[in-house]
Amino acid sequence: MPMCGITGFIGNNAAANALEGLRTLEYRGYDSAGIAFATKEGRIKVVKTVGDVSALDKKLAAEDMSASNFAIAHTRWATHGGVSDANAHPHTDCTGKVAVVHNGIIENFQALRSELTSRGHNFSSETDSEVIGHLIEENLRTMGFVDAALAAFRRLEGSYAILAAYEGSPDALVAAKNQSPLVLSAGDGFAAAASDPVPLAKCSKEGLFLEDGDFAIIKKGSLEVLDLRTGKKVGRKPIVFGTGSVFSDKQEYPHFMLKEIYEAPAAIRLAAMQEPAALEKAARLVRENRVVFVACGTSRHASLVGRYLFNRIGGKFCEVVVASEFPYIAKNIVDDDLLVIAVSQSGETADVIEGVKIAKARGAKVLAITNVVGSSLDRISDCALHLNCGPEIGVAATKTFVAQLSLLYLLASTVVGKKDDEKRKLDEVSRILENSLPGWDAVGRKLSQRLAKEPAAYFIARGPNFPTALEGALKFKEITYIHAEGMAAGELKHGTLALISKGTPVIAICPNDYTHAETISNVMETAARGAFVIGCSDEPNSAFDELIAVPKVEEHHFPLVFSIPLQFLAYHTAVLRKNNPDRPRNLAKSVTVK
Ligand code: M6R
Repeated sequence: MPMCGITGFIGNNAAANALEGLRTLEYRGYDSAGIAFATKEGRIKVVKTVGDVSALDKKLAAEDMSASNFAIAHTRWATHGGVSDANAHPHTDCTGKVAVVHNGIIENFQALRSELTSRGHNFSSETDSEVIGHLIEENLRTMGFVDAALAAFRRLEGSYAILAAYEGSPDALVAAKNQSPLVLSAGDGFAAAASDPVPLAKCSKEGLFLEDGDFAIIKKGSLEVLDLRTGKKVGRKPIVFGTGSVFSDKQEYPHFMLKEIYEAPAAIRLAAMQEPAALEKAARLVRENRVVFVACGTSRHASLVGRYLFNRIGGKFCEVVVASEFPYIAKNIVDDDLLVIAVSQSGETADVIEGVKIAKARGAKVLAITNVVGSSLDRISDCALHLNCGPEIGVAATKTFVAQLSLLYLLASTVVGKKDDEKRKLDEVSRILENSLPGWDAVGRKLSQRLAKEPAAYFIARGPNFPTALEGALKFKEITYIHAEGMAAGELKHGTLALISKGTPVIAICPNDYTHAETISNVMETAARGAFVIGCSDEPNSAFDELIAVPKVEEHHFPLVFSIPLQFLAYHTAVLRKNNPDRPRNLAKSVTVK
């Protein structure tokens, strides 16, 4: 049920290692956390709690984990079933000898639960995941742990990355994967498993990325992968972990989000460093096919800017489809002359992965734009371009949005043979931005004093900056919890203007370009109703109550430039409201459920 992070370790200090890994996975969820580890008596001990890994650390303070030679751990993002200690993972069977952590949704859990209950099993949580341990328990009556787990996992329908431990089999953990990610690594005297490569990259340079339908036996120094259905061995080639696998710390910044906003200039330069052959291949695919972008959230907003870029730079019309809606329209638009550009920072977003699978099944080609080398999206696509901008820990996407836009500028320009020119321009823009960051930080802090008390804010723009308005509003609402709407400025008069009254904040993204005059007219319409107008522009205007000044850049680079002061605005408003911008309530960084 939950969309979560899981880790497992077998070897010395297993519990400490599993916990250390879990800390780097909290971006996947932080409602509750738990661990199951082997005690010195060889029993399984489960400790779990509502809250994040630091809450778990407190609960574990009195435990002796030094003798643990295996452990599995979990950090949860609740979907079905409330946030409670009982619903936190790991879950056990009736005997407490089997422990399981799970990321995904067991769709047939109700049928399995009734069946198991009718045979006398007692359940202690509301989760779908708990059935897994009880299924293993039943099978253990007649077979060994590996076979018992294989038979249990074969009964599951839905999405899962599972790690299971059994105190009767301290030398092996078992794992299975379908739709949710799971990576394994092994070395001298240890083996480990995790939802992404970051926890593993500290002790291994490479790992096995399990494929859907894989079952794995994890032992000290060895990994064996079987086909879950047939039980036959399958070969999985190790993949070298990318630079994005190195976990970064906050350095001197109070939050990851602020640090990552400041990394924007570097993100532009890093995203522009594409391998020429991959970029040319991607450009050829764009030239030769109809194009549709499939993405969610911030990545969708980057795709919407991409649509304008392909149109204005590349002379190409394309569409952007919300990934979760793609299955409903795919039938009529997908065939073998379609290129799906799947944009996903994490490369694990379930809606995007599903869209890509549908597209591939109907013969379409897939170009991935992702930050995570070796992610599910990276692996299933025909061609991939990587953002290269290092891990983004804050749940709110900041530097990766900037990197996505940079890559899309480069791609659109490569399509028309102007790659080198665009690379040079992006480098120039990154230098200009470097000088602007401290000023935007300060103005964001100042304006947050005004915005933090407001019940709502409206972000408007036209043309390629319309997606910037959508993104500004998303960033603002996701971390401030203030209602925010982004819209095409021309749409105001078709409804939303009714919500503008004295003092309503309107953030007008208003470059002095071909959209300027009409956007200013829309700003005037809001000002006439008493709006408090924050103009975000390279040109002061008397219609603005406040100005966020941006440098003059080439017109198609404005979305890149505007996105950053809007990130500062959201950040400072969230901090003033005492929210943790790195971990907005109810959200998670990697959305691996549909
Ligand atoms: O990893 P993805 O780019 O596929 O994630 C998509 C969205 O979940 C993500 O952009 C989300 O909207 C961000 N938290 C917004 O800041």
